[in-house]
Amino acid sequence: MSKTDTTSSFNQFQGTQGYIASTPLMDAVNCAIALERPLLIKGEPGTGKTLLANHVAESLGMPMESWHIKSTSKACDGLYVYDTLQRLNDARFGDGDVQDIRSYIKPGPLGRVFAAENRHVLLIDEIDKADLEFPNDILREIDEMRFTVLETGDEVIAKQRPVVIITSNNEKELPDAFLRRCVFHFIDFPDRELMKEIVDVHHPHLDTKLLDQVLIKFYWLREQGELRKKPSTSELIDWIAALLRSGISTEQLEEHIPFLGALLKNEQDTVGVSSYQERGGRMPAAWSDLGAKYNQ
Ligand SMILES: Nc1ncnc2c1ncn2[C@@H]1O[C@H](COP(=O)(O)OP(=O)(O)OP(=O)(O)O)[C@@H](O)[C@H]1O
Ligand SMILES: [Mg+2]
Repeated sequence: MSKTDTTSSFNQFQGTQGYIASTPLMDAVNCAIALERPLLIKGEPGTGKTLLANHVAESLGMPMESWHIKSTSKACDGLYVYDTLQRLNDARFGDGDVQDIRSYIKPGPLGRVFAAENRHVLLIDEIDKADLEFPNDILREIDEMRFTVLETGDEVIAKQRPVVIITSNNEKELPDAFLRRCVFHFIDFPDRELMKEIVDVHHPHLDTKLLDQVLIKFYWLREQGELRKKPSTSELIDWIAALLRSGISTEQLEEHIPFLGALLKNEQDTVGVSSYQERGGRMPAAWSDLGAKYNQ
């Protein structure tokens, strides 16, 4: 295989028309695909962790299966569930063949992607929601790509190794043994140039002056140290939608920040910024009003 062939087969993911990926994120995705290791994605809420899996699937032309983790999720639910209740009901009412245990074994998301003929992207979303044992409990299955259905003794072996993407909001530390098996990437908060590209995906052809005003206000808000919850990419996208629908002009936006509720989700934060505006506090209208970080 020539060097160009190797490079192009490595660089399988380059973002999509609907998802802007930074170079380090693309590298992490491509590294995980090449090593056939799960990709563990962390980052602030709303920075595109969950959406990434959809777009990796789109870009690789693979179907996707999602497993959204809750505090009550157990690792075995991802493999299969033995529907004893259905079996009991069938036994009681004479429906179905209760002797055939296999018909009461319902595969979970991992079970389905293992059994599928074609290669899937498997999203394990918000793994840190579950208890501490959860990540360790799915290690073996993800490593070996096989598991046994205890009730029947059947062994399910993955026909194709799925591309596994795991997200975490950092609510809990993940065990070292789990981390060792993953490729890790933290999505840094997008800088203004990357953010312009992300905004363009959702609000194409936005007036450049308006976009500049929007981003000045947005990054200024994020710089306010006393904020309890900084607005993130998803709030920015919503806020721009509200601004566009309201027909606000760039000049109006220079003076104040309307529709704060689309950006800030904590009452102390909204009260704080509103009272700052009411007191006639200075609103930034140019990048030079922000710190050195924004003026290089
Ligand atoms: N890189 C990006 N390209 C395009 N859109 C993006 C990007 N990052 C974030 N978004 C927008 O932000 C929204 C939120 O993304 P997503 O739900 O994937 O975030 P998340 O990191 O999973 O958040 P949470 O931690 O709250 O679950 C998306 O629906 C999309 O509109
Ligand atoms: Mg998410």
